[in-house]
Order: sequence, then structure tokens, then C-alpha cells
Amino acid sequence: MKTHTLTPSSSSSPPPTRISMQPAVEPDSLRATLLRRRSLSAVLLLAAVALPCSLLYLAATPADNWSPLSSSLRNSSAISRHEEVELRRVLKAAAMPDKKTVILTTVNSAWCSPGSVLDLFMQSFKLGNNTAELLNHLVVVAVDEKGYKRCTQVHSHCFALKTPGVDFSEQENFMSGMYLKMMWRRLQFLGVVLETGFDFIFTDTDIMWFRNPFPRFYPDGDFQIACDNFNGKPKDLNNKPNGGFMYVKSNNRTINFYKYWYSSKEKYPGINEQDVFNYIKKNSVTRGLGVNIRFLSTAYFGGFCQPSKDLNKVCTMHANCCIGLERKTHDLGVMLEDWKKFMSLTPLERQSRKMSWSVPQNCSFAPLG
Ligand SMILES: *[C@@H]1O[C@H](CO)[C@@H](O)[C@H](O)[C@H]1NC(C)=O
Ligand SMILES: *[C@@H]1O[C@H](CO)[C@@H](O)[C@H](O)[C@H]1NC(C)=O
Ligand SMILES: *[C@@H]1O[C@H](CO)[C@@H](O)[C@H](O)[C@H]1NC(C)=O
Ligand SMILES: *[C@@H]1O[C@H](CO)[C@@H](O)[C@H](O)[C@H]1NC(C)=O
Repeated sequence: MKTHTLTPSSSSSPPPTRISMQPAVEPDSLRATLLRRRSLSAVLLLAAVALPCSLLYLAATPADNWSPLSSSLRNSSAISRHEEVELRRVLKAAAMPDKKTVILTTVNSAWCSPGSVLDLFMQSFKLGNNTAELLNHLVVVAVDEKGYKRCTQVHSHCFALKTPGVDFSEQENFMSGMYLKMMWRRLQFLGVVLETGFDFIFTDTDIMWFRNPFPRFYPDGDFQIACDNFNGKPKDLNNKPNGGFMYVKSNNRTINFYKYWYSSKEKYPGINEQDVFNYIKKNSVTRGLGVNIRFLSTAYFGGFCQPSKDLNKVCTMHANCCIGLERKTHDLGVMLEDWKKFMSLTPLERQSRKMSWSVPQNCSFAPLG
């Protein structure tokens, strides 16, 4: 059995359902095609084994009735009173001048040892164009004790998200129950943040920040999400979203949507929250909630699946379509070097010389050796 470091990332694995159920790839994304091809046989095998027919059937049926629950996620077992007070304090301390927007990322100890992903992530803000200031608004949410301790050594806004009886610091099998638990726990937590009245950008830690993303968000979007592959149409629900980067405004529509999304966990057991999003994004309940969903262009919010081609435009780059923490760390380091080279050019050179990324190098969906 291959083991895999449990990574709090939306893209550390090629989710079998996501790939096998969608006609995959943008024609212009050769690299992504190759990555997907390489993993396709494994994926098909997994899908055949792991997906009972009943599940396929369920996915095709319309949603049944769901009405906004009177109780809140905040009020459920999601978070204790004591934690709620602490969360409010941390969010307030980190909020932007509007007093209600924060940047959130989640880490476990594997991701924040010295020289690991958290260091690269924070370094990117310092190397990015006018992004250093945004670190003042970043809350690092640690899902285990060691991660929290490490956070307090390198950053001023840390929150310990406890999950009674669960140790998220362990090594886990790929797409294991523990991985799923972590993803759902994260979703539940983000719902609590919305209920607390804060807007957030959620970012995976393996996303490098090079420019301020706010100018690229859609003014009329409640829920804006990055894509593995973007088809050019921001409102088209057929885009392939990646939950590793989202900008969500706190309002009744999004709060109810998060409650509904989280409640769908029971209906689609064994699947991560991103795949469940794809199941529910078009159904009548989601439509009824009226949440304005927008998909962000990979021209600004790119990744290894579909890179931002123009370094003059890129805001963020995600080490998605990549299995393996070491490969990720390696390629993220190279990405930062690319960016440094770009920034060292003169303004004229930056415009005229078409610089491109020299990554992915090690990153792929190929099984770990
Ligand atoms: C919290 O839950 C309790 C019982 O579980 C319920 O009576 C109360 O109305 C809930 N409060 C909110 C704000 O949802
Ligand atoms: C950095 O930001 C400044 C101010 O917004 C802008 O004038 C400059 O062109 C930017 N540089 C790059 C490399 O994007
Ligand atoms: C949510 O809806 C309720 C009732 O419709 C309203 O009173 C409240 O102000 C709304 N809250 C927000 C944050 O929009
Ligand atoms: C990256 O790939 C190179 C060349 O295949 C290999 O020598 C190196 O060990 C790899 N590094 C990591 C961290 O995977």
C-alpha cells in the first residue's frame, strides 16, 4: 500500500469521480491532458472499484427538498463556545480595513515544518507585487497541535482548529477516510466563518501569491472559485472548479449554501467536498438559494493543470495536478525562482520578453515511486 502524507490541499490527489465523470480537458491544455492521461488507467480502475452503481444513480437524480435549517453550523458540534470566542478574536485581529475580510489557509504539521510549503507560501507574499501587506490579514488555521505551534513561531494570526478524537498530523493512505474527514472539517469551518459574519479568501497553502487578487474578483459574485480548467465563461457551471482558492462573501445565500453543501456529505459518502460541489452546483436547491457562483480565470488564478500564461497578469499559481509533498515543494521553489527572475527584469523587458514558467518539473499525477 502506498502511503501519502496527509495534505490539506484540494489538489493533492486526482479525485477519481471528478475525472471519470466529466469529459475532462480543454483542447489547449496539452500539459493537463498528458497529466490526466498518465493517471487515467489508475483512475478508471479506482472508479470501477470504488463507485457503487447506486452512487452513480444518486448523482443523476434531482436534489430532494432541503430547507435552510434553523440551527447553524456554528451552533452544532462544529466549534465549542470557547473556540468560537477565540475564532472571533483572531478574525477581528486579522481583518482588512473593511473589518470583515480575511485570508484563510489550513495547515497540518507536515506542511509547515521549516522549508516546507508554509514557508514557500509566506515567501511568495513577500516576493509578490505589493502582496506583503496582505500577510497582515492572513489567518493560518492549524488542524493539529504541532502545526499550531509552528504557526505561532512564524506568523501572528494562528487559529487551532481542533477535531476531537482525530489526529490530522498522521501519514495516511491516499484518498483515505482521514483525508476526506479533513476536507469536510475544513468546509464546516469555513461555513462557521461565514456565519460569524466574515468574508474570506480561502487559499490552499500550495498556492503562491504574486499579485493582489481583489481587482480580479467579480463585483456581483457571492461565491467565486478558481478552476483546474477554465472555459472562458465565468458563469458557466460546467467549468472545472478547484476548491483550493475561493472568495466567499458572508450573506444569507452563502451561509445557507454552506449548510446545504455540508449536509450533502451524508448523501455522497466517500467523496470529497469538491466533487460534491460538482454534484450539487446545478441542482434545484442550489438554484433556489440564489447564490451567485462565479468561476475565476486561470489567466489570473492558474495552476499546473492550466497555468497562467502571462506573468504580467498572474495573481496566484497553484501546485495542483500534483501528487506528493516533495514534488510539490520542489516545483514551488522553482516557481518562486521564476518569479524572482521576472521581477528582476526591467519594465520594458517584462512586457516584451515573453517569459514563461519552467514548472511543472517534478509535479504530476504519476504514482509516487
Ligand atoms: C442552537 O441549538 C439549540 C438546540 O440545539 C437551539 O435551541 C437554538 O435555537 C440554536 N441556536 C441557533 C442560533 O441556531
Ligand atoms: C507592481 O505594482 C505597481 C503598482 O500597482 C505597478 O505600477 C507595477 O507595474 C507592478 N509591477 C509588476 C511587475 O506587475
Ligand atoms: C438574512 O435573512 C434574514 C431574514 O430574511 C434577515 O433578517 C437578515 O438580515 C439576513 N442576514 C443577512 C446577513 O443578510
Ligand atoms: C525531481 O526530479 C529530478 C529529475 O527527475 C530528480 O532527480 C529529483 O530527485 C526530483 N526531486 C524531487 C524532490 O522529487
